Amino acid sequence: MANSYNLKRKTVLVTGASGQIGQTLVLSLLKNGAYVYGVDVVPVIDPKFKKLIASYIRRFSYMPADITSERKIKAMLRALKRPVDVLINCAGVGVYTPFEKRTEDELDYVMNTNLKGTILMSKALSREMVKRKKGTIINFGSVYGVTTPDFRIYGDSKRNSSEIYGATKAGIIHFTKYLAVYLAKHGITVNAVSPGGVFRSQAESFVKNYEYKTPLGRMATPEDLVGAILFLASDDARYITGQNLVVDGGFTLW
Ligand SMILES: NC(=O)c1ccc[n+]([C@@H]2O[C@H](COP(=O)([O-])OP(=O)(O)OC[C@H]3O[C@@H](n4cnc5c(N)ncnc54)[C@H](O)[C@@H]3O)[C@@H](O)[C@H]2O)c1
Repeated sequence: MANSYNLKRKTVLVTGASGQIGQTLVLSLLKNGAYVYGVDVVPVIDPKFKKLIASYIRRFSYMPADITSERKIKAMLRALKRPVDVLINCAGVGVYTPFEKRTEDELDYVMNTNLKGTILMSKALSREMVKRKKGTIINFGSVYGVTTPDFRIYGDSKRNSSEIYGATKAGIIHFTKYLAVYLAKHGITVNAVSPGGVFRSQAESFVKNYEYKTPLGRMATPEDLVGAILFLASDDARYITGQNLVVDGGFTLW
């Protein structure tokens, strides 16, 4: 993506930086001039992305950390060399087994990563933002935090989006509103971005059904999401807080 927003003086920390959306986001932030800390439990392995990022290596640091552990978050923060202006809570996970088969481990896994991780990271990073009287937090919701899946589009793929995924994403959208109000007096803005389904070589029948249900007629690409996030990370969004920006090609309109 071209340089659409001037993020030159911004330090941005992105969780889930090694994931499908995280990688594209990191690259776009670097292209727009930001210094980027990429946090993840695993490093990037995609050789294409590693090569692209190599030309920005002076403005990118990979910080290994598990966001479900406050102790590990604190250790990671101690290693940061510069204060963070923008926190992007992108790390998130799902489970796809049927509701009847839900296990406690699956519930813990999704709740801990999506909700606890987002809350712990926001708590840890906002401490410094409060002292500096400025900062921006962007959380990742989902269309399934806004509306429920239409199970008919999944056919026999056995990969239904789960109740716990949607519940945690709805929780993130609420947490975003709560935190926006709580931190407003410190000059900190908090918003959410809720993407629609991103194409990732899913079953052909599912993709066809998803496209049929989407007014713009296709699934998202990670690049489709970047503009909304760069905007919310930029000073142009300084008077926007507590909002959930749905980037879904109209999927939630029907
Ligand atoms: N892909 C989609 O269709 C879609 C749609 C709506 C919302 N989202 C949301 O977008 C965000 C990114 O999704 P994605 O498709 O890139 O997923 P992804 O699985 O490709 O990437 C998620 C990344 O988070 C990291 N991660 C998981 N647990 C972690 C932990 N405890 N600590 C640190 N890092 C951890 C993973 O290692 C991975 O690199 C998620 O919050 C997801 O729920 C995705």
